[in-house]
Amino acid sequence: MPRIILAPLQGVTTPLFRTALASMFTGFDEAMAPFITTTSNGPPPAKHMKEILPENNNNRLKIIPQLLSKEGGDFLEAAKVIVDLCGADEINWNIGCPSGTVTGKKRGAGLLPYPEVIDRFLGVVCAKLSCKLSVKMRLGMIDSREWEALAPILNNYPISEITIHARTGKQQYDGYADVDMFAECKAAIKHPVVYNGDVVSVEFADKIIKRFPDLSGIMVGRGLIANPLLSMSIQNGCEADKKERSIAIFNLHKKMFAQYAEILQGGAFLGRMKELMKYWGPMLSEDERLIRDVLRARCVEDYEEAYKALHNS
Ligand SMILES: Cc1cc2nc3c(=O)[nH]c(=O)nc-3n(C[C@H](O)[C@H](O)[C@H](O)COP(=O)(O)O)c2cc1C
Repeated sequence: MPRIILAPLQGVTTPLFRTALASMFTGFDEAMAPFITTTSNGPPPAKHMKEILPENNNNRLKIIPQLLSKEGGDFLEAAKVIVDLCGADEINWNIGCPSGTVTGKKRGAGLLPYPEVIDRFLGVVCAKLSCKLSVKMRLGMIDSREWEALAPILNNYPISEITIHARTGKQQYDGYADVDMFAECKAAIKHPVVYNGDVVSVEFADKIIKRFPDLSGIMVGRGLIANPLLSMSIQNGCEADKKERSIAIFNLHKKMFAQYAEILQGGAFLGRMKELMKYWGPMLSEDERLIRDVLRARCVEDYEEAYKALHNS
């Protein structure tokens, strides 16, 4: 059984969420942290660094810090601070983020059409990085065969592991992960490979594990957030039923509600809870009106009332 890794989701897999999920549910021992952007005027600010500090994370969970960067020098400067402060033994390079504001600056998935820039970046970083470097990428930005030009370059460097989200950047999160194209890409890469994309059921995970028996890991994002029992279910080979999933969500919601209420107020608090409810709502009810009421709540009282109606539906 390959290991299961919680995917990074900016605004969702916060330290509080990772800690709660790992302390209440089993089946995964690692989480990649959402990206921190490097800058050319010094290391990342403390408010970003605190997200990955060991004291703010569950110590049973290995946290892999991730950097979004296009300059090798900036990456090295940020990485040094992360290694010193967190004792990280691995840092991940994000070349998969599809957001227009990121790709427009030739970062994230915006780098995938530029093999020569990736080659230069890796040359600078691999010469000096004091810990392992892993990469999280997509198949391409526009074309799902862009990886063909990248694989020989990635194979030239001592990369510890490559996570491949089997979509293009242009797809964003739409359509389906292209498992056949992932198979071709994986075969061309000599490093350990982690599969990522659309693992939302035991059945899908089983298919991936059977088809790729030598995978280094499976990274699960939206599926594990929507169904906190998913990693345990994959490990046991048995899907939880709707009632078990609803109880799991109810307990996790209760914990997140209490913990976010301690540190956030008003809109910031509601924003965090609603991000989670985008995943939990459809698991709790098929009634779109009830889900919409939760997502449109304008104050905490309205939110609580709408949540109760949704949960009891
Ligand atoms: C809201 C959101 C935020 C994300 N933030 C990040 C991020 O910070 N770093 C990253 O590498 N991927 C990020 N991703 C991509 C996920 O890690 C993952 O690759 C993607 O959701 C596909 O996996 P899944 O189908 O299991 O969710 C994000 C995805 C979403 C939906």
